[in-house]
Amino acid sequence: MHYSDFLLANTNTLLKRAMNDGYAVPAFNFYNMETLTAILDAASITQSPIILAVSETALEYMSPDILMGMIAGAKYKRGQIALHLDHGHSFEICKRACDMGFSSVMFDGASLPLEQNIAESRRIADYVHKFNISLETELGVLSGIEDENTKSSSCSYTDPSVVKDFVRQTKTDSLAVAIGTSHGAYKRKSANESLRFDILEQIAKEIPKTPLVLHGASTIPQKYVKQINKYGGDINSARGISPAQIRHAISLHIAKVNIDSDSRFAFTASVRKTLSTNKSVFDPRVYLGEAKKEITKNCIDEIQNIMGSGYKI
Ligand code: G3H
Ligand code: 13P
Ligand code: ZN
Repeated sequence: MHYSDFLLANTNTLLKRAMNDGYAVPAFNFYNMETLTAILDAASITQSPIILAVSETALEYMSPDILMGMIAGAKYKRGQIALHLDHGHSFEICKRACDMGFSSVMFDGASLPLEQNIAESRRIADYVHKFNISLETELGVLSGIEDENTKSSSCSYTDPSVVKDFVRQTKTDSLAVAIGTSHGAYKRKSANESLRFDILEQIAKEIPKTPLVLHGASTIPQKYVKQINKYGGDINSARGISPAQIRHAISLHIAKVNIDSDSRFAFTASVRKTLSTNKSVFDPRVYLGEAKKEITKNCIDEIQNIMGSGYKI
């Protein structure tokens, strides 16, 4: 199947539009029916373009057939939603996603030696471009206190002096950069720790036409941390990136902002509250339905107050 059969958009088209207009397209991760439809509801309410992101583990969790069945049955506006493989680690998984109907893939070769990252990224670009599918690649290693998804505890910021050559040699459509964000719930030691905007500015100067991508950009709303702890959870010192810092990054050519943890927090906080305050509930549709609504609420808030992507479709 090709993504056009599902009326999906090419990510590159969405990002170019965003860059020209000064907003960012949110990439929200999903892994089941509730998270998928919660995100699509937010897109439809805000009239925002959206990138539906699926990690390798989420793809296995849903299974390719169920995932594509849900996409086929979902309601969304033609040509405004992209389906994106998040952190693909091999040519094979990127090819598989393209064959399933994804409209873009990320090849994450950030932990490879530079020459190998370039060679593999280029090989994947040559494959996906044949089908008008977009490619995102990464330079620099994300990490803060400890990175949960890339399993990295040491950070190396993206080197602005190599980005131009990297983009030229790989033919990548967009580039994920490491400027101090990290995946997961424990991103910052203190609330006022700043991202490396100086590095971002230099990168944007080197490759002004390439949309840049910010991974690990969850804000970790503290109301959810408190709610989880109040209703039996035990999560301490979880801290994200401030909305103001993400907005500033968007003004410096970040055109795609990746959010996963915030939805996990919204979901978990809601489930804990519903089950604790309504002890007789045993129908999963009750607490999953509430959790879905909470994700939609949070996505709407981030679209309107961080991304600036509302009313862009
Ligand atoms: O950056 C990756 C996403 O947060 C997905 O992580 O492999 O736990 O689904 P995951
Ligand atoms: P968060 O863990 O900050 O939500 O990052 C998600 C992400 O980068 C997915 O690729
Ligand atoms: Zn990521």
